[in-house]
Amino acid sequence: MSQQEYVLITGVSTGIGNDAARYLIDRGYHVFGSVKKSSDAVRVSAQFPKNFTCLEFDVTRTDQVRTSFEIVTETLSGNKLSGLVNNAGLALGGPIELMDDEKFRCQMEVNLFAVRNVTNVFLPLLKGDKENNISGGKIIMISSISGVFNTPFNGAYCISKHAMESLAEIYRRELMMYDIDVVSIQPGPIESKLWDKNIDKYEEYYDTEYGKLMGRANKIMKNAERRALPAAVISKLIHKILTRRRTRLSFIVNKNWLPTVLFVKYMPARWVDRIFYRQLFE
Ligand SMILES: NC(=O)c1ccc[n+]([C@@H]2O[C@H](COP(=O)([O-])OP(=O)(O)OC[C@H]3O[C@@H](n4cnc5c(N)ncnc54)[C@H](OP(=O)(O)O)[C@@H]3O)[C@@H](O)[C@H]2O)c1
Repeated sequence: MSQQEYVLITGVSTGIGNDAARYLIDRGYHVFGSVKKSSDAVRVSAQFPKNFTCLEFDVTRTDQVRTSFEIVTETLSGNKLSGLVNNAGLALGGPIELMDDEKFRCQMEVNLFAVRNVTNVFLPLLKGDKENNISGGKIIMISSISGVFNTPFNGAYCISKHAMESLAEIYRRELMMYDIDVVSIQPGPIESKLWDKNIDKYEEYYDTEYGKLMGRANKIMKNAERRALPAAVISKLIHKILTRRRTRLSFIVNKNWLPTVLFVKYMPARWVDRIFYRQLFE
């Protein structure tokens, strides 16, 4: 890397975001990493003493995001961001019929509305100029395999990530004049705290008509977790996307990659329904 490059990653308190920050700092990047809680700001700043600026914002709070924009602009002092990694997210489970509106909205707020909001606020620092040969930065969406495949009882999460996929494509087509590329990473299970943060996430539905299915749904989830890959796999991919001029537009990341791709992209939906039926009822 000939000159200092700058990347902003949302949600670096734990998991993928934290590992990506580590990986990029080790490779000479200056990382702006956001956390939601002050206690995490202290911890993560101690974890990354050099080439790291900790930002404190809840991605759903536009006022806080704008304050961080000022900090980033000042630190960059005229430089551009090479990348924005929209990583912060959460996963709320439950039957789509019963999930209360507040939870459903919260899922959309964090995984969708906030992604658009954060992106829009930081766009000025990513824009290049095609006519004058000034390169733009990259936007990397940490989406999910749930952005291309629907799993029962994770409906709100799947819907939010499908919408994120659309958002990525729309941005890419609309931001061409600024030479901004938008790439989506679609991980399967990754070792992180995402699901722990929602431990017993089906518990509130045990006494409903769906109660009997919740145990099975948990089992499907646990089986998936056993195949989890380390977060470093995603960090490496982020680095590859940042360093190559052009890459694929989306990356499914999973153990048994080829069967997964064939399954999620080409398996007829009725057959997939049948598989879920067996897992849930037989
Ligand atoms: N782990 C997987 O199996 C997996 C698979 C596919 C996709 N993903 C995606 O990967 C991304 C990172 O997840 P992860 O697995 O690394 O889980 P994680 O360890 O729980 O990390 C999520 C990060 O997002 C932050 N966050 C959540 N809500 C926020 C808010 N309102 N404002 C600011 N920050 C917020 C969290 O902060 P707090 O610590 O303060 O909550 C945390 O830093 C997510 O978008 C997730 O959907 C994960």
